[in-house]
Amino acid sequence: MVKIAPSILSADFANLEREIRQIKTADYVHVDVMDGCFVPNISIGIPVVESIRRVTDLPLDVHLMIDRPSRYVEAFAKAGADLLTIHVEADIPEEISRTIAVMKNVGVQVGLSIKPKTPAEILLPWIEILDLVLVMTVEPGFGGQSFMEDQLPKIRTVRQMLREKNPLCELEVDGGIDLRTCRLAVEAGANVLVAGSAVYGAPDIPARIADLRRCASMQQD
Ligand code: DX5
Ligand code: ZN
Repeated sequence: MVKIAPSILSADFANLEREIRQIKTADYVHVDVMDGCFVPNISIGIPVVESIRRVTDLPLDVHLMIDRPSRYVEAFAKAGADLLTIHVEADIPEEISRTIAVMKNVGVQVGLSIKPKTPAEILLPWIEILDLVLVMTVEPGFGGQSFMEDQLPKIRTVRQMLREKNPLCELEVDGGIDLRTCRLAVEAGANVLVAGSAVYGAPDIPARIADLRRCASMQQD
């Protein structure tokens, strides 16, 4: 079954507890952490993850859009992240390996993400030890951008790589997911859908989560 991970980047931060209660039928809370270096925007950090942890039992899917994430993964795990996703572009390969080892050591699930211009094959050195691969379908940094359909072949390639090397690993897509594009992503092989503006911009948030599930699971005619 397809999983839905609403991104609180599009939520009202002044009412975050209420906004998180609105998504209790989802599968994850997706938390976008931005450092103003890896991406040209700054969002939220460790204290906010700590606070969110206290108001939900949903797993926290923390997407680290930060340079040299090894500096912070332990702190985010301690703050209550269940799954931490780092970017392969955020450090040299040796440091990515070391960061993954630290994440495994502290008992957090390990995600690795690629930006739109990064090829799927870059994941190969780590693919067998990952819990999740995140394929970005927008340039990271901002909510509300359009889904990049040119990323669909890459989602298919990653799904094929996972079939061969790590069938239990989740394949998440992030950026521009709505009631139309969710189906394209799932048809290409995604099984976890991040949605920010499509969820928090909806007049009825629980209904939108249900609609995303329904659209994503519709069979092709
Ligand atoms: C973008 C973030 C996304 C973003 C998605 O850098 O990683 O999670 O919030 O927002 P929408 O669904 O509006 O594209
Ligand atoms: Zn994200």
